[in-house]
Amino acid sequence: MGSGRTGSEFVTAGRVVLGAGTAADVPGLVAGLGERVLVVAGRSADVSALTGATVHRHRGEPDVESVRAAVAVARDVRPDVVVGWGGGSVLDLAKCVAVLAPGTSDVLDHLEVVGRGLPLPDAALPVVAVPTTAGTGAEVTANAPVRVPQRGVKASLRGRGMLPAVAVVDPLLTLACPPALTAASGVDALTQCLEAFTTPFATPLTDPLARDGLVRAGRSLRRVVEHGDDVDARTDLSVAALLSGMALANAKLGAVHGLAAALGGRLGAPHGQVCAAVLAPTTAANVAALRRTGAPGLGRYDAAAVALTGRTGARADDAVAWLEDLVTALGVPGLGDLGLARADVPDVVADALAASSTRGNPVALTAEELTEVVAASW
Ligand SMILES: NC(=O)c1ccc[n+]([C@@H]2O[C@H](COP(=O)([O-])OP(=O)(O)OC[C@H]3O[C@@H](n4cnc5c(N)ncnc54)[C@H](O)[C@@H]3O)[C@@H](O)[C@H]2O)c1
Repeated sequence: MGSGRTGSEFVTAGRVVLGAGTAADVPGLVAGLGERVLVVAGRSADVSALTGATVHRHRGEPDVESVRAAVAVARDVRPDVVVGWGGGSVLDLAKCVAVLAPGTSDVLDHLEVVGRGLPLPDAALPVVAVPTTAGTGAEVTANAPVRVPQRGVKASLRGRGMLPAVAVVDPLLTLACPPALTAASGVDALTQCLEAFTTPFATPLTDPLARDGLVRAGRSLRRVVEHGDDVDARTDLSVAALLSGMALANAKLGAVHGLAAALGGRLGAPHGQVCAAVLAPTTAANVAALRRTGAPGLGRYDAAAVALTGRTGARADDAVAWLEDLVTALGVPGLGDLGLARADVPDVVADALAASSTRGNPVALTAEELTEVVAASW
Protein backbone atom coordinates (compact mmCIF):
# COMPACT_ATOMS: atom_id res chain seq x y z
CA MET A 1 0.00 0.00 0.00
CA GLY A 2 1.37 3.45 -0.86
CA SER A 3 1.79 5.99 1.89
CA GLY A 4 1.40 9.15 -0.24
CA ARG A 5 -1.39 11.59 0.51
CA THR A 6 -4.07 11.49 -2.19
CA GLY A 7 -6.75 13.76 -0.72
CA SER A 8 -8.85 16.25 -2.64
CA GLU A 9 -11.07 19.13 -1.68
CA PHE A 10 -14.40 20.30 -3.04
CA VAL A 11 -15.54 23.92 -3.05
CA THR A 12 -18.52 25.50 -4.73
CA ALA A 13 -20.88 28.45 -4.33
CA GLY A 14 -22.10 28.95 -0.77
CA ARG A 15 -25.68 28.21 -1.82
CA VAL A 16 -27.13 26.88 -5.06
CA VAL A 17 -30.78 27.51 -5.94
CA LEU A 18 -31.89 25.55 -9.00
CA GLY A 19 -35.11 25.25 -10.93
CA ALA A 20 -37.64 26.84 -13.26
CA GLY A 21 -38.91 30.10 -11.81
CA THR A 22 -36.22 30.49 -9.15
CA ALA A 23 -35.11 33.85 -10.59
CA ALA A 24 -38.07 35.27 -8.66
CA ASP A 25 -36.14 34.48 -5.45
CA VAL A 26 -33.20 36.72 -6.36
CA PRO A 27 -34.41 39.97 -4.72
CA GLY A 28 -34.98 38.18 -1.40
CA LEU A 29 -31.64 36.38 -1.57
CA VAL A 30 -29.85 39.66 -2.35
CA ALA A 31 -31.62 41.52 0.47
CA GLY A 32 -30.28 38.91 2.88
CA LEU A 33 -26.72 39.87 1.95
CA GLY A 34 -26.83 43.65 2.27
CA GLU A 35 -28.58 46.90 1.46
CA ARG A 36 -26.41 48.56 -1.13
CA VAL A 37 -26.54 46.56 -4.35
CA LEU A 38 -24.54 46.78 -7.57
CA VAL A 39 -25.96 44.75 -10.46
CA VAL A 40 -23.64 43.83 -13.33
CA ALA A 41 -26.11 42.95 -16.05
CA GLY A 42 -26.16 41.75 -19.64
CA ARG A 43 -27.53 44.22 -22.12
CA SER A 44 -30.98 42.58 -22.30
CA ALA A 45 -31.26 41.15 -18.77
CA ASP A 46 -34.45 42.24 -16.99
CA VAL A 47 -33.23 43.24 -13.54
CA SER A 48 -36.16 45.54 -12.75
CA ALA A 49 -37.09 43.41 -9.70
CA LEU A 50 -33.90 44.62 -8.00
CA THR A 51 -35.33 48.01 -7.11
CA GLY A 52 -32.92 50.62 -5.78
CA ALA A 53 -29.83 48.87 -7.13
CA THR A 54 -27.17 50.54 -9.25
CA VAL A 55 -27.08 48.77 -12.62
CA HIS A 56 -23.87 48.52 -14.67
CA ARG A 57 -24.63 47.12 -18.15
CA HIS A 58 -21.94 45.14 -19.95
CA ARG A 59 -21.60 43.50 -23.35
CA GLY A 60 -18.86 41.29 -24.76
CA GLU A 61 -16.34 39.12 -22.97
CA PRO A 62 -14.54 40.98 -20.16
CA ASP A 63 -11.21 42.56 -21.04
CA VAL A 64 -8.73 44.50 -18.96
CA GLU A 65 -10.41 47.84 -19.71
CA SER A 66 -13.99 46.68 -19.03
CA VAL A 67 -12.85 45.17 -15.71
CA ARG A 68 -11.19 48.46 -14.77
CA ALA A 69 -14.34 50.42 -15.71
CA ALA A 70 -16.66 48.16 -13.70
CA VAL A 71 -14.31 48.17 -10.68
CA ALA A 72 -14.23 51.98 -10.81
CA VAL A 73 -18.03 52.05 -10.66
CA ALA A 74 -17.98 49.66 -7.70
CA ARG A 75 -15.33 51.65 -5.83
CA ASP A 76 -17.62 54.64 -6.25
CA VAL A 77 -20.88 52.89 -5.26
CA ARG A 78 -19.31 50.83 -2.42
CA PRO A 79 -21.91 48.05 -2.58
CA ASP A 80 -22.52 45.42 0.11
CA VAL A 81 -23.33 42.82 -2.53
CA VAL A 82 -22.74 42.39 -6.27
CA VAL A 83 -25.28 40.66 -8.50
CA GLY A 84 -24.15 39.21 -11.83
CA TRP A 85 -27.16 38.64 -14.09
CA GLY A 86 -26.33 37.55 -17.63
CA GLY A 87 -24.13 35.18 -19.60
CA GLY A 88 -20.80 33.87 -18.38
CA SER A 89 -19.10 37.13 -19.43
CA VAL A 90 -21.29 39.15 -17.10
CA LEU A 91 -20.94 36.68 -14.22
CA ASP A 92 -17.16 36.78 -14.61
CA LEU A 93 -17.15 40.57 -14.63
CA ALA A 94 -19.25 40.61 -11.45
CA LYS A 95 -16.77 38.23 -9.82
CA CYS A 96 -13.81 40.44 -10.83
CA VAL A 97 -15.59 43.45 -9.35
CA ALA A 98 -16.35 41.63 -6.11
CA VAL A 99 -12.75 40.65 -5.55
CA LEU A 100 -11.03 43.84 -6.76
CA ALA A 101 -13.38 46.61 -5.60
CA PRO A 102 -12.63 46.40 -1.84
CA GLY A 103 -8.88 46.91 -2.43
CA THR A 104 -6.76 49.26 -4.51
CA SER A 105 -4.96 46.87 -6.85
CA ASP A 106 -5.37 46.60 -10.62
CA VAL A 107 -6.59 43.58 -12.58
CA LEU A 108 -3.14 43.13 -14.18
CA ASP A 109 -1.56 42.77 -10.73
CA HIS A 110 -3.37 39.45 -10.33
CA LEU A 111 -3.86 38.03 -13.81
CA GLU A 112 -2.30 34.61 -14.46
CA VAL A 113 0.26 34.01 -17.21
CA VAL A 114 0.40 37.56 -18.63
CA GLY A 115 -0.08 39.62 -15.46
CA ARG A 116 1.92 39.73 -12.22
CA GLY A 117 -0.01 36.76 -10.85
CA LEU A 118 -0.17 38.14 -7.30
CA PRO A 119 -2.61 36.31 -5.03
CA LEU A 120 -6.01 37.96 -4.86
CA PRO A 121 -7.05 39.50 -1.55
CA ASP A 122 -9.13 37.20 0.65
CA ALA A 123 -11.74 39.85 1.36
CA ALA A 124 -14.31 39.97 -1.42
CA LEU A 125 -17.89 41.19 -1.71
CA PRO A 126 -20.55 38.48 -1.86
CA VAL A 127 -21.78 37.71 -5.37
CA VAL A 128 -25.21 36.48 -6.38
CA ALA A 129 -24.74 34.86 -9.81
CA VAL A 130 -27.73 34.44 -12.12
CA PRO A 131 -26.76 32.81 -15.45
CA THR A 132 -28.89 33.51 -18.53
CA THR A 133 -26.95 31.11 -20.77
CA ALA A 134 -26.42 27.39 -20.18
CA GLY A 135 -22.73 26.92 -20.76
CA THR A 136 -19.98 28.27 -18.59
CA GLY A 137 -20.90 27.22 -15.06
CA ALA A 138 -19.23 30.50 -14.02
CA GLU A 139 -21.88 30.76 -11.28
CA VAL A 140 -19.92 28.17 -9.29
CA THR A 141 -16.29 28.70 -10.32
CA ALA A 142 -13.49 30.61 -8.61
CA ASN A 143 -11.97 32.14 -11.73
CA ALA A 144 -12.78 34.60 -14.50
CA PRO A 145 -11.07 34.64 -17.91
CA VAL A 146 -10.18 38.18 -19.00
CA ARG A 147 -9.10 39.18 -22.51
CA VAL A 148 -5.78 40.96 -22.77
CA PRO A 149 -5.99 42.44 -26.28
CA GLN A 150 -2.41 43.79 -26.19
CA ARG A 151 -1.12 40.24 -25.73
CA GLY A 152 -3.76 38.51 -27.88
CA VAL A 153 -4.69 36.02 -25.15
CA LYS A 154 -7.21 35.38 -22.40
CA ALA A 155 -5.95 34.68 -18.90
CA SER A 156 -7.75 34.15 -15.62
CA LEU A 157 -8.14 35.91 -12.36
CA ARG A 158 -8.41 33.12 -9.82
CA GLY A 159 -9.04 32.94 -6.10
CA ARG A 160 -11.40 31.58 -3.47
CA GLY A 161 -12.94 35.02 -3.03
CA MET A 162 -14.37 34.75 -6.56
CA LEU A 163 -16.70 31.88 -5.66
CA PRO A 164 -20.20 33.33 -5.65
CA ALA A 165 -22.06 33.34 -2.33
CA VAL A 166 -25.25 32.31 -4.13
CA ALA A 167 -25.92 30.80 -7.56
CA VAL A 168 -29.47 30.97 -8.87
CA VAL A 169 -29.87 28.71 -11.90
CA ASP A 170 -33.24 29.23 -13.55
CA PRO A 171 -33.46 27.41 -16.92
CA LEU A 172 -36.35 29.67 -17.97
CA LEU A 173 -33.83 32.53 -18.28
CA THR A 174 -32.16 30.64 -21.14
CA LEU A 175 -35.33 30.31 -23.24
CA ALA A 176 -34.49 33.54 -25.09
CA CYS A 177 -31.06 32.28 -26.21
CA PRO A 178 -31.02 32.02 -30.04
CA PRO A 179 -29.83 28.72 -31.62
CA ALA A 180 -26.22 29.80 -32.32
CA LEU A 181 -25.72 31.00 -28.74
CA THR A 182 -27.46 27.89 -27.38
CA ALA A 183 -25.13 25.69 -29.44
CA ALA A 184 -21.93 27.55 -28.54
CA SER A 185 -22.64 27.74 -24.82
CA GLY A 186 -23.94 24.16 -24.73
CA VAL A 187 -20.74 22.87 -26.34
CA ASP A 188 -18.79 24.82 -23.72
CA ALA A 189 -20.64 22.96 -20.93
CA LEU A 190 -20.12 19.63 -22.66
CA THR A 191 -16.41 20.35 -23.19
CA GLN A 192 -15.95 21.32 -19.56
CA CYS A 193 -17.57 18.09 -18.42
CA LEU A 194 -15.42 16.06 -20.83
CA GLU A 195 -12.15 17.75 -19.84
CA ALA A 196 -12.94 17.66 -16.10
CA PHE A 197 -13.79 13.95 -16.49
CA THR A 198 -10.69 12.97 -18.47
CA THR A 199 -8.08 15.04 -16.61
CA PRO A 200 -5.82 13.19 -14.18
CA PHE A 201 -6.87 15.86 -11.64
CA ALA A 202 -10.44 14.50 -11.54
CA THR A 203 -11.58 13.54 -8.03
CA PRO A 204 -14.13 11.12 -6.58
CA LEU A 205 -16.44 14.11 -6.09
CA THR A 206 -16.04 15.66 -9.55
CA ASP A 207 -16.42 12.37 -11.46
CA PRO A 208 -20.16 11.80 -10.88
CA LEU A 209 -20.89 15.46 -11.64
CA ALA A 210 -18.92 15.51 -14.87
CA ARG A 211 -20.34 12.17 -15.98
CA ASP A 212 -23.93 13.25 -15.36
CA GLY A 213 -23.25 16.50 -17.18
CA LEU A 214 -22.06 14.48 -20.19
CA VAL A 215 -25.23 12.38 -20.09
CA ARG A 216 -27.44 15.48 -19.98
CA ALA A 217 -25.55 17.38 -22.68
CA GLY A 218 -25.35 14.21 -24.77
CA ARG A 219 -29.09 13.65 -24.81
CA SER A 220 -30.29 17.26 -24.92
CA LEU A 221 -27.83 19.54 -26.71
CA ARG A 222 -29.03 18.86 -30.25
CA ARG A 223 -32.63 18.90 -29.09
CA VAL A 224 -32.35 22.28 -27.42
CA VAL A 225 -30.70 23.88 -30.46
CA GLU A 226 -33.55 22.62 -32.67
CA HIS A 227 -36.36 23.19 -30.15
CA GLY A 228 -35.41 26.16 -28.02
CA ASP A 229 -38.78 26.10 -26.24
CA ASP A 230 -38.27 22.60 -24.82
CA VAL A 231 -38.05 23.37 -21.10
CA ASP A 232 -36.92 19.84 -20.17
CA ALA A 233 -34.02 20.04 -22.62
CA ARG A 234 -33.20 23.59 -21.49
CA THR A 235 -33.17 22.31 -17.90
CA ASP A 236 -30.81 19.48 -18.86
CA LEU A 237 -28.37 22.00 -20.34
CA SER A 238 -28.61 24.40 -17.38
CA VAL A 239 -27.89 21.50 -15.03
CA ALA A 240 -25.05 20.26 -17.28
CA ALA A 241 -23.51 23.74 -17.22
CA LEU A 242 -23.83 23.96 -13.44
CA LEU A 243 -22.26 20.51 -13.03
CA SER A 244 -19.48 21.42 -15.47
CA GLY A 245 -18.61 24.45 -13.36
CA MET A 246 -18.62 22.44 -10.13
CA ALA A 247 -16.39 19.84 -11.75
CA LEU A 248 -13.88 22.19 -13.38
CA ALA A 249 -13.51 24.30 -10.25
CA ASN A 250 -12.34 21.22 -8.36
CA ALA A 251 -10.48 19.31 -11.09
CA LYS A 252 -8.82 20.91 -14.10
CA LEU A 253 -9.56 21.29 -17.80
CA GLY A 254 -7.35 20.36 -20.75
CA ALA A 255 -6.00 21.26 -24.16
CA VAL A 256 -9.36 22.33 -25.65
CA HIS A 257 -9.50 25.15 -23.12
CA GLY A 258 -5.78 25.76 -23.47
CA LEU A 259 -6.29 26.33 -27.19
CA ALA A 260 -9.43 28.38 -26.50
CA ALA A 261 -7.41 30.67 -24.21
CA ALA A 262 -4.81 31.14 -26.94
CA LEU A 263 -7.39 31.64 -29.68
CA GLY A 264 -9.96 33.61 -27.69
CA GLY A 265 -7.68 36.60 -27.24
CA ARG A 266 -7.01 36.75 -31.00
CA LEU A 267 -10.42 35.99 -32.49
CA GLY A 268 -13.57 37.96 -31.84
CA ALA A 269 -15.49 34.65 -31.84
CA PRO A 270 -17.54 33.49 -28.84
CA HIS A 271 -15.68 31.20 -26.42
CA GLY A 272 -18.09 28.29 -27.02
CA GLN A 273 -17.59 28.46 -30.80
CA VAL A 274 -13.82 28.37 -30.35
CA CYS A 275 -14.12 25.33 -28.06
CA ALA A 276 -16.47 23.66 -30.54
CA ALA A 277 -14.06 24.20 -33.45
CA VAL A 278 -11.19 22.38 -31.73
CA LEU A 279 -13.15 19.86 -29.61
CA ALA A 280 -13.23 16.79 -31.85
CA PRO A 281 -9.66 17.13 -33.26
CA THR A 282 -8.23 17.66 -29.74
CA THR A 283 -10.12 14.66 -28.39
CA ALA A 284 -8.89 12.56 -31.31
CA ALA A 285 -5.30 13.70 -30.65
CA ASN A 286 -5.61 12.89 -26.93
CA VAL A 287 -7.00 9.42 -27.62
CA ALA A 288 -4.25 8.72 -30.18
CA ALA A 289 -1.50 9.98 -27.85
CA LEU A 290 -2.82 7.95 -24.91
CA ARG A 291 -2.96 4.87 -27.08
CA ARG A 292 0.56 5.44 -28.43
CA THR A 293 2.22 6.26 -25.12
CA GLY A 294 0.26 3.80 -23.02
CA ALA A 295 -0.38 6.57 -20.48
CA PRO A 296 -3.40 5.88 -18.25
CA GLY A 297 -6.61 7.62 -19.17
CA LEU A 298 -8.02 5.86 -22.21
CA GLY A 299 -10.66 4.15 -20.07
CA ARG A 300 -11.98 7.58 -19.13
CA TYR A 301 -12.69 8.31 -22.80
CA ASP A 302 -14.48 4.94 -23.03
CA ALA A 303 -16.67 5.95 -20.07
CA ALA A 304 -17.26 9.38 -21.61
CA ALA A 305 -18.32 7.66 -24.86
CA VAL A 306 -20.94 5.65 -22.96
CA ALA A 307 -22.23 8.81 -21.23
CA LEU A 308 -22.40 10.84 -24.45
CA THR A 309 -23.85 8.21 -26.78
CA GLY A 310 -26.06 6.42 -24.26
CA ARG A 311 -24.70 3.10 -25.62
CA THR A 312 -23.16 0.60 -23.22
CA GLY A 313 -20.02 -0.78 -24.79
CA ALA A 314 -19.19 2.48 -26.58
CA ARG A 315 -15.43 3.13 -26.74
CA ALA A 316 -13.14 6.17 -26.97
CA ASP A 317 -13.29 6.25 -30.77
CA ASP A 318 -17.09 6.38 -30.57
CA ALA A 319 -16.76 9.53 -28.45
CA VAL A 320 -14.59 11.13 -31.13
CA ALA A 321 -17.06 10.15 -33.88
CA TRP A 322 -20.01 11.40 -31.80
CA LEU A 323 -18.30 14.76 -31.25
CA GLU A 324 -17.51 15.07 -34.97
CA ASP A 325 -21.18 14.40 -35.80
CA LEU A 326 -22.32 16.90 -33.18
CA VAL A 327 -20.11 19.69 -34.46
CA THR A 328 -21.22 18.99 -38.05
CA ALA A 329 -24.90 18.93 -37.03
CA LEU A 330 -24.54 22.22 -35.16
CA GLY A 331 -22.82 23.83 -38.15
CA VAL A 332 -19.91 25.08 -36.08
CA PRO A 333 -17.52 27.24 -38.13
CA GLY A 334 -13.86 26.21 -38.42
CA LEU A 335 -10.93 28.30 -37.20
CA GLY A 336 -10.34 29.74 -40.68
CA ASP A 337 -13.96 30.94 -40.83
CA LEU A 338 -13.56 32.38 -37.35
CA GLY A 339 -10.75 34.58 -38.70
CA LEU A 340 -7.54 32.82 -37.68
CA ALA A 341 -4.59 33.63 -39.95
CA ARG A 342 -2.27 30.74 -40.90
CA ALA A 343 0.72 32.89 -39.94
CA ASP A 344 -0.54 33.07 -36.34
CA VAL A 345 -0.64 29.30 -35.82
CA PRO A 346 2.87 28.96 -34.28
CA ASP A 347 2.07 31.69 -31.72
CA VAL A 348 -1.31 30.11 -30.97
CA VAL A 349 0.37 26.78 -30.32
CA ALA A 350 3.04 28.38 -28.10
CA ASP A 351 0.37 30.24 -26.09
CA ALA A 352 -1.76 27.08 -25.80
CA LEU A 353 1.22 25.16 -24.41
CA ALA A 354 1.70 27.90 -21.77
CA ALA A 355 -2.01 28.20 -20.90
CA SER A 356 -2.99 27.07 -17.40
CA SER A 357 -5.79 24.78 -18.68
CA THR A 358 -3.35 22.75 -20.78
CA ARG A 359 -1.71 21.47 -17.59
CA GLY A 360 -4.85 19.47 -16.93
CA ASN A 361 -4.69 17.57 -20.22
CA PRO A 362 -4.54 13.77 -19.77
CA VAL A 363 -1.41 13.54 -21.90
CA ALA A 364 1.25 16.09 -22.85
CA LEU A 365 0.65 17.02 -26.50
CA THR A 366 3.66 18.26 -28.42
CA ALA A 367 3.78 21.49 -30.43
CA GLU A 368 3.57 19.33 -33.58
CA GLU A 369 0.48 17.54 -32.32
CA LEU A 370 -1.22 20.82 -31.38
CA THR A 371 -0.32 22.25 -34.78
CA GLU A 372 -2.06 19.25 -36.37
CA VAL A 373 -5.09 19.81 -34.13
CA VAL A 374 -5.30 23.43 -35.29
CA ALA A 375 -4.99 22.34 -38.94
CA ALA A 376 -7.73 19.72 -38.47
CA SER A 377 -9.95 22.40 -36.90
CA TRP A 378 -9.74 24.70 -39.91
N1 LIG B 1 -15.50 31.54 -15.13
C1 LIG B 1 -15.56 30.38 -15.69
O1 LIG B 1 -15.41 29.36 -15.02
C2 LIG B 1 -15.84 30.29 -17.15
C3 LIG B 1 -16.01 29.04 -17.74
C4 LIG B 1 -16.24 29.00 -19.12
C5 LIG B 1 -16.30 30.16 -19.86
N2 LIG B 1 -16.13 31.35 -19.25
C6 LIG B 1 -16.20 32.61 -20.00
O2 LIG B 1 -17.57 32.94 -20.21
C7 LIG B 1 -17.67 33.74 -21.40
C8 LIG B 1 -18.73 33.17 -22.32
O3 LIG B 1 -19.98 33.20 -21.68
P1 LIG B 1 -21.31 32.76 -22.43
O4 LIG B 1 -21.04 31.64 -23.34
O5 LIG B 1 -22.34 32.60 -21.39
O6 LIG B 1 -21.62 33.99 -23.37
P2 LIG B 1 -21.60 35.57 -23.08
O7 LIG B 1 -21.85 35.85 -21.65
O8 LIG B 1 -20.35 36.12 -23.68
O9 LIG B 1 -22.86 36.06 -23.90
C9 LIG B 1 -22.90 35.94 -25.32
C10 LIG B 1 -24.05 36.79 -25.87
O10 LIG B 1 -25.28 36.24 -25.45
C11 LIG B 1 -26.15 37.26 -24.97
N3 LIG B 1 -27.07 36.62 -24.03
C12 LIG B 1 -26.81 36.17 -22.77
N4 LIG B 1 -27.91 35.59 -22.26
C13 LIG B 1 -28.89 35.66 -23.20
C14 LIG B 1 -30.25 35.24 -23.26
N5 LIG B 1 -30.84 34.59 -22.24
N6 LIG B 1 -30.95 35.48 -24.38
C15 LIG B 1 -30.38 36.10 -25.43
N7 LIG B 1 -29.09 36.54 -25.44
C16 LIG B 1 -28.35 36.33 -24.32
C17 LIG B 1 -25.20 38.27 -24.38
O11 LIG B 1 -25.77 39.54 -24.29
C18 LIG B 1 -24.05 38.23 -25.37
O12 LIG B 1 -24.31 39.07 -26.47
C19 LIG B 1 -16.29 33.75 -22.03
O13 LIG B 1 -15.61 34.94 -21.69
C20 LIG B 1 -15.60 32.57 -21.37
O14 LIG B 1 -14.20 32.70 -21.34
C21 LIG B 1 -15.93 31.43 -17.92
